[in-house]
Amino acid sequence: MRRPLFRRAKRWGIIASAILLSSLLLAACGENSPSILNPAGPVAAKEAGIFWFILIVATIIFVIVEAALIYSIVRYRERPNSATPRQIHGSNTLEITWTVIPSVVLILVLGYTIYTMLTLYPGGANQLQVRVVAHQWWWEFDYPGYHIVTADSMHIPAGTVVDAQLYSDNVIHSFWVPALTGKLDVIPGHEMTNHLHFKADASAANHSYPGECVEFCGAQHAHMHFDVVVDTADNFNTWISSQQQMALTPTGSLAAQGQKLFAQSSCAGCHGIVGVNLKSYDDPRAAGLVGPNLTHFGSRGLIAGGVLTNTPANLTTWLQNPQAVKPGIDMPQLGLSPDQINALVAYLESLK
Ligand code: CUA
Repeated sequence: MRRPLFRRAKRWGIIASAILLSSLLLAACGENSPSILNPAGPVAAKEAGIFWFILIVATIIFVIVEAALIYSIVRYRERPNSATPRQIHGSNTLEITWTVIPSVVLILVLGYTIYTMLTLYPGGANQLQVRVVAHQWWWEFDYPGYHIVTADSMHIPAGTVVDAQLYSDNVIHSFWVPALTGKLDVIPGHEMTNHLHFKADASAANHSYPGECVEFCGAQHAHMHFDVVVDTADNFNTWISSQQQMALTPTGSLAAQGQKLFAQSSCAGCHGIVGVNLKSYDDPRAAGLVGPNLTHFGSRGLIAGGVLTNTPANLTTWLQNPQAVKPGIDMPQLGLSPDQINALVAYLESLK
């Protein structure tokens, strides 16, 4: 009597594990997780089209093959006194059929994929040039046409083709915004710069889309996020003109204290703020600064290479010990006092 009970328990154990495993897998599909299945632009939509085409073809083949398999298992199962079935080893008809059918299917998939690749480039004049620079481990966005530099949050106008020019000053990274475009490697020391062209639909305006680094690039590869904020054309122009301004002069005394601290401490040895330690975004001194430009830090949605949302509490945590949040990064534990941190947080968050 003990065996059936044990078997039943085992069966329930398997079912429970399957449910647990699938819920763990599905938990990764949160609202904000990047997905190629909700394309927000024509390039991503075409790429998603390949996914659906291959999925449908593969599903049809799966159903046909499994149906034939199950039919054969049931129809030709061994029964008492059943005779040895006819042996068909070496049948030319079968060999040719199961060579030709998969070849035709694979040629169809290849043809559709090549056609999509050739028609992927969205084209059009008046493209927005953005120099995307991959650092270890954060993304810098330099808009040469507007002379502004930002980090972690990339703004683009809806309906305009973006020409993302991918640079790295260290190792190979890969740039990916699942809802807008496929991946492209960011290769250091390459004579030919990799360009990735993509566009956001008009309906994508006022939304932001997560981006990722998708090439292993060191200890914090998994923490190299950014977001692409899609603006209406008007909002984008407003964003550009506000980013072009020098950093705001602090109004409160705490923020003023923070500005003074920034300028006099080691912060200014790695970070630039236009109007404080840089004359403009194009100031030659900017080339020697290894950290993100902080001129309009307060206007960004993400900080710390995309691992934290931009809130005073998160910035406080970051300044207390960046190495605890992202071990291995260039920014050291500065040993700031709580008062110094409060002043810096007040200042940096005021830089809208
Ligand atoms: Cu950069 Cu992975």
